[in-house]
Amino acid sequence: MSAFKQIVLLLSTVTLLSYGSLAQAAGDPVKGKVKSAACAGCHGADGNSQAPNFPKLSGQYADYIVKQVNDFLHNKRSDPIMSGMAATAGSASDLADIAAFFASQKTMKGTPVKSAKAARGKIIQLKGDPARGVYACVHCHGKNGKGASKTNPFFPVIGGQHKTYLVKILKDFKSKKRTNDPASMMAAVAMKMSNADIDAVAEYLSGL
Ligand code: HEC
Ligand code: HEC
Repeated sequence: MSAFKQIVLLLSTVTLLSYGSLAQAAGDPVKGKVKSAACAGCHGADGNSQAPNFPKLSGQYADYIVKQVNDFLHNKRSDPIMSGMAATAGSASDLADIAAFFASQKTMKGTPVKSAKAARGKIIQLKGDPARGVYACVHCHGKNGKGASKTNPFFPVIGGQHKTYLVKILKDFKSKKRTNDPASMMAAVAMKMSNADIDAVAEYLSGL
């Protein structure tokens, strides 16, 4: 087994433990649709936001949405806009319902981009850049960035997300402005990437 696979296995265990404490009853998407009105203005009624700095939530894993909102609530992740909005999700069961609603919507998707940059981005997604220690995104985020598997909420859907948001978040991981990734898994990847790598992979992923 490669050292990389051992690390991923080890980190997945850490991830499972940290998610364990958040595990709760699955939400009700029908109730969640009504409750998600508080989020629709920015994230879109069905989770397909219009503004490119507001992430799409449509088809994102419910448990991932719950984790992120809780991280904003407990200052493990911070953003001038979303940190203030997290509390509007209501109780833990309201949040579970909202998350179940967005997760039940059609998985986010973008318009395929044909450019030299996107072609370079495709190589990073599928093969990484082993010589420079950049792990391929596909190992954790799955084919087309649509997640590792239906039952694994630890690795979010990133394929089809807005490019502007992807670039911003990758730079946040790189600069350690965002540090809520379990065992610094994303920082380890982003730190090895140049700004040009980030731009390329975001261009490719946003079109999937
Ligand atoms: C006023 C606009 C606004 C409203 C209203 C809002 N959000 Fe957000 N949300 C944001 C922004 C901006 C971000 C991106 C933060 C960043 O860049 O780190 C975000 C990020 C998120 C994320 C992280 C997504 C990811 O892919 O990591 C989740 C989950 C989320 N919001 C859920 C909600 C929920 C649930 C509600 C309703 C209770 C809500 N938001 C209401 C602006 C908003
Ligand atoms: C070793 C596993 C691993 C690899 C490889 C990996 N990621 Fe991640 N990534 C994660 C984990 C885990 C998270 C969730 C962090 C959290 O829980 O807040 C994440 C989160 C993200 C997010 C934030 C999504 C959101 O909306 O909040 C983006 C964007 C992202 N990864 C992009 C990439 C890209 C691009 C690559 C390839 C260059 C990559 N990742 C490679 C594990 C990985």
